[in-house]
Amino acid sequence: NPTVAVIVVAAGSGTRLGLGQPKAFVSLGGRSILSRSLDALFALDDEAQVIVVVPEDRLDEALSTAQDVAGAAAPYVTVVAGGESRQQSVNAGLAVLLPSVQTVLVHDAARALTPVAQFEAVIDAVRQSGYGAIPGLPVSDTIKRTDGFGLAVATVDRSELAAVQTPQGFPRAQLEQAYAAASDDFTDDAALVAEAGFAVAVIHGDALAFKITTAWDLRRAEQVIESAFV
Ligand code: CTP
Ligand code: MG
Repeated sequence: NPTVAVIVVAAGSGTRLGLGQPKAFVSLGGRSILSRSLDALFALDDEAQVIVVVPEDRLDEALSTAQDVAGAAAPYVTVVAGGESRQQSVNAGLAVLLPSVQTVLVHDAARALTPVAQFEAVIDAVRQSGYGAIPGLPVSDTIKRTDGFGLAVATVDRSELAAVQTPQGFPRAQLEQAYAAASDDFTDDAALVAEAGFAVAVIHGDALAFKITTAWDLRRAEQVIESAFV
C-alpha cells in the first residue's frame, strides 16, 4: 500500500487564462493540462496514491484522463470535487487519504511540466528531515517595496527571497494538523504549516515547474513541448 500521496489540485476556474473553461481542462499540445501534469506521478519510484481534485462537473472526465495516463489499472487513483478556494480543494483531497499514507505532496495541476526529479527530491527531503520541503528558485529581478501611491520606497534584499513552486511535501500528521487549525485563507500549504509551528525547508526548484497562469505562460509551455525539451 502506498506510503506517499500526491494531491493534484485542478479545481480552479482559470480566470487569468481567460479561455472560459477550467484551466486544467485546457489543451496543451493536444492533451489537457491535467493530463500533462499527471505524467510525472505515474513515473515515480514508489507507487503513490494520486488524488485529483477537480470541479464537480468534471469528475468522470478526470477519472478517465487519469486512467489513460496511468496506462493500465490505476488502483490508487481517487478523484474528488474541489471547493471555492485552493485551500478548500486541498482539504477535500486530505479527506480521502489512504490509511497507509505517511507523506503527502500537494501539487498544482497548472505546473504541468514539473519534472519527476522534483517530486522525488521533495519526497526524499521530507522522509529524511521529518519536516516539510518545498521547491524554490532564486529571484532574478530586483524587487521594490512600493507605497500606496506607486512610489518605490525600498529595494528588498533579494538574497533572502525564494519564488516557491509545487509539489510541496509534508509529513501527513503535520499537514493534517495544520489544515485542522487553519482559519484564514493562505496562499500556499507551506504558509499554513509554518503557521501551525512546523519547520519547512526550501530545496532547489526547477524552471520547468513554472505555473501556467496567463495566456503567455500557456504559449511558453507549448513551446517547451514543441522543442521536445521535456
Ligand atoms: N485550484 C483549485 N481549487 C480552487 C482554486 C485553485 O484546485 N478553488 C488549483 C488550480 O486548479 C491550480 C492551482 O490550484 O492548479 C493553482 O491555482 P491558480 O493558478 O490560481 O489557478 P486558478 O485558480 O484556476 O486560476 P485563476 O486564479 O486565474 O482563476
Ligand atoms: Mg486562483
